[in-house]
Amino acid sequence: MHGARSIVRFAFTIGMFFTLAGCCESEEKTPQAAPAGGQTSAAPKEVYTIGMSQCNLGEPWRVQMNKDVELAAEKHPNLEVVFKDAQNDTLKQRAHVEEFVSAGVDLLIISPKEAQPLTEPVAKAFQAGIPVIVLDRAVLGDQFTCFIGADNTKIGRAAGEWIAEQLGGAGRVVELKGLMTSIPGQDRHSGFREGIEGTDIEVIFEADMKWLESNARKEMESALARYDDIDMVYAHNDPGAHGAYLAAKAADRHEDIMFVGIDALPHEGIAYVIQDILDATFQYPTGGAEAIDVALRIFAGEEVPKHIVLGSRLFTKDNVADGGVAIE
Ligand code: FRU
Repeated sequence: MHGARSIVRFAFTIGMFFTLAGCCESEEKTPQAAPAGGQTSAAPKEVYTIGMSQCNLGEPWRVQMNKDVELAAEKHPNLEVVFKDAQNDTLKQRAHVEEFVSAGVDLLIISPKEAQPLTEPVAKAFQAGIPVIVLDRAVLGDQFTCFIGADNTKIGRAAGEWIAEQLGGAGRVVELKGLMTSIPGQDRHSGFREGIEGTDIEVIFEADMKWLESNARKEMESALARYDDIDMVYAHNDPGAHGAYLAAKAADRHEDIMFVGIDALPHEGIAYVIQDILDATFQYPTGGAEAIDVALRIFAGEEVPKHIVLGSRLFTKDNVADGGVAIE
């Protein structure tokens, strides 16, 4: 594994050598003199190197994000993307960002594990003149070029409203939260609470399962042991909902409980809905293709929006065959 990574790094270093050697403008990229990473005004390059810092590849959704970036980039021979996987380690991800900056990448794409600890290295990259696209999980402040992601508060609110409707306005819910030091976890939580406000939905058990199926399963085992009567599980992602389902199934209580997740990958959440494992899943697009689109616009010297909000769809057994419905 290390070997593979060093080959990539070696290829990258060589690649950077030729890229930099072929361009006389790049020596002007000193941290002080360079403008913060907005659109580039330099002459077009033959090859642009993009550093992609992924917080982990342990979950199918992140594998899909990298695939989306790769597929979109492949269509443009002038783009080279170098991927780094932080393996769910914040310190490693900080180091990856710094490595990309010292290697002089033309643009950084990052899907950060946590907001606060990644804010500083991202800001430094941006201040060094490197355009930074932040994907899915936000950082704090405004020291980046463009954020791309779906509206997690809106998704959480829609989940709350859907759950309240399914339960006729009253019921007992378990909330399995995503990592609460990440913005999607915080927003999916607060949005959900807004969605059930004024109803008689009671959250009887809540726990931070940190986006991980194995943690969700353990937390659900505790919830099942404590409560005889659970109507619904709202998990902040599909792996979490699936983990909860497995715990309920092992206790032979899965038929009494409904399960809702978020992500709706075709081969994960949507498949679970079709298989009657989940009752609903809300789409959370990866934004990978959009990131490449924005990168190309930045390289072309165009202004890009600071925030790009992606849409979401609700998939249930009733609408999955029709491609779900857009959420308002
Ligand atoms: C993958 C994931 C997704 C979730 C997203 C939130 O790491 O947990 O399941 O929707 O991150 O950032």
